[in-house]
Amino acid sequence: MEQSDPFAGGDVAYLRDVQYRDSTKLAARARLHAAYGRGDWFPWWATQVPWPGNPTVLEVGCGAGWAWAEAMAQIPPGLHLTLTDLSQGMLDEALARVTATNHYESVVGRVADAQDLPYDDDSFDLVVSNHMLYHLPDPARGVAELARVLRPDGVAAVVTNGEAHLRELWALQEDVFPGSPGADNYLRVFGLETGEPMLRAAFGSVELTRYPDQLRCTDPGDVLAFITSTPPADTAGPDAIDALRVAVDDAFARGGGVFEISKDVGLFICRP
Ligand SMILES: C[S@@+](CC[C@H](N)C(=O)[O-])C[C@H]1O[C@@H](n2cnc3c(N)ncnc32)[C@H](O)[C@@H]1O
Repeated sequence: MEQSDPFAGGDVAYLRDVQYRDSTKLAARARLHAAYGRGDWFPWWATQVPWPGNPTVLEVGCGAGWAWAEAMAQIPPGLHLTLTDLSQGMLDEALARVTATNHYESVVGRVADAQDLPYDDDSFDLVVSNHMLYHLPDPARGVAELARVLRPDGVAAVVTNGEAHLRELWALQEDVFPGSPGADNYLRVFGLETGEPMLRAAFGSVELTRYPDQLRCTDPGDVLAFITSTPPADTAGPDAIDALRVAVDDAFARGGGVFEISKDVGLFICRP
């Protein structure tokens, strides 16, 4: 029988109070990408976004606000930023980090559910949603909300992962936790392949650009930290964690000390 997945498509209380209470678990995952990939994700993202002049910008599901600090050199000054997240802890971190940059014309924030945004229609020139829509119980409703608050000449920039993303890593998880909700669960909710039809239903034009990257990991501890930051390993007992450690170590041994992991990440640029 298929088990439910609090990470994908939503257990709102789990996401708000456990997974994203603060940025600790997300940072364990981000570390793998930063340490073993190109390491320029947010700067790359910022060079792809067609920044309108002097715009009002909304980020839905802003997390710890990393994009606005890490890609500052690629983001034009003069933006009026509104940051929103389901988690007060994440929002607080984001506001502190982004305000401290002194790069933006204004920075405000609000706890908000992506499925019910507390903003009027046609409010923003640019709406950003990075790695968030797959958490929603009803991602099509989240997409409709992005389109609703966007001005008629605005742009929505939406990031998610595709089917090949981290497949070698998730295969290790499946070996140790057979039948548990796998990574493809969240890709079924809103991945590059499943999300595109939802975006096309809400926007007149949708263009996808992929971010080419792959990971060449050399420290098993980093892979273990990644897997144990999400269900089911985040609540697993010591025996299961030991089994996972053995599976990770075996994967590194098979690669002569290196574990290669595929990435499949993309950015949709959407216009009404
Ligand atoms: C994977 S993180 C991405 C954070 C950030 N966009 C980034 O790229 O670093 C997903 C974020 O979406 C937020 N989130 C999850 N469900 C949400 C919802 N229903 N409404 C708003 N934010 C939500 C989480 O709290 C978390 O901060």
